[in-house]
Amino acid sequence: MNRKAAAKPDPAPTRGGVILEASGLSRIFVSGTETLNILSGLDLTVTSGRSLAIVGASGSGKSTLLHLLGGLDRPTGGRVLYEGLDVFNQDEGQLAAWRNKAVGFVFQFHHLLADFTALENVAMPARLSGLEPRPAFELARPLLERVGLGSRLNHKPGEMSGGEQQRAALARALVMAPRVLLADEPTGNLDAKSSGTVNGLIMEMVREKNLAAVIVTHNSQLAALVDQPMELKSGRLVEVSL
Ligand SMILES: Nc1ncnc2c1ncn2[C@@H]1O[C@H](COP(=O)(O)OP(=O)(O)OP(=O)(O)O)[C@@H](O)[C@H]1O
Ligand SMILES: [Mg+2]
Repeated sequence: MNRKAAAKPDPAPTRGGVILEASGLSRIFVSGTETLNILSGLDLTVTSGRSLAIVGASGSGKSTLLHLLGGLDRPTGGRVLYEGLDVFNQDEGQLAAWRNKAVGFVFQFHHLLADFTALENVAMPARLSGLEPRPAFELARPLLERVGLGSRLNHKPGEMSGGEQQRAALARALVMAPRVLLADEPTGNLDAKSSGTVNGLIMEMVREKNLAAVIVTHNSQLAALVDQPMELKSGRLVEVSL
């Protein structure tokens, strides 16, 4: 497949610096009598304003890697630096506070809270960080407008389409103005048209907000939009051209 390099803006390789750096990352799972070396000595550098896509076979460790990069899981070996901060050299409380502030996650399923409106859901990370409702809503509203949901602020997830739910999840991921966006199959549950909209918005956000993005995807359209597609294979990342 052609990467349509001419159709996309400059990847801005020199804009900003290194945000996230994983080195020698390993993750071993012990399951019964079996020892699974899922990641083994993986290195990865993500700079601001740039996006990486990660493809790879089911079970190759893509979600495991994203969980480590975002501090949702701890590695067996190696380390992750965030702007020089050793992420796992923090206790659980510090790690949770770091995650809330530094990293935005988008998952395959939106994980919006059913009893809350779009505005309340997107404001939730800000509320959890200690902000009062009014300033939290002031952060959430423009993001919802930016993802095209200005007329859905008071809709609950059950009153929104799949694409709208996922756009709200993207807005929620960005409400704390993180420098890192991690997405795990963000359009895996959407039809082609909604996928296109969400894919486009993710890439616009990476550039507008100068994010360092790592996107796990089976979606060839999204993989072709990123600055660097990589494959997770035998516990390490290899560059691929799609
Ligand atoms: N907590 C755990 N305990 C034991 N094994 C685990 C654990 N978490 C993940 N694994 C195993 O690690 C491997 C990698 O899982 P992971 O979810 O990262 O794969 P993936 O590449 O995201 O796959 P998919 O494309 O299907 O989402 C799998 O074989 C899985 O069974
Ligand atoms: Mg996965």
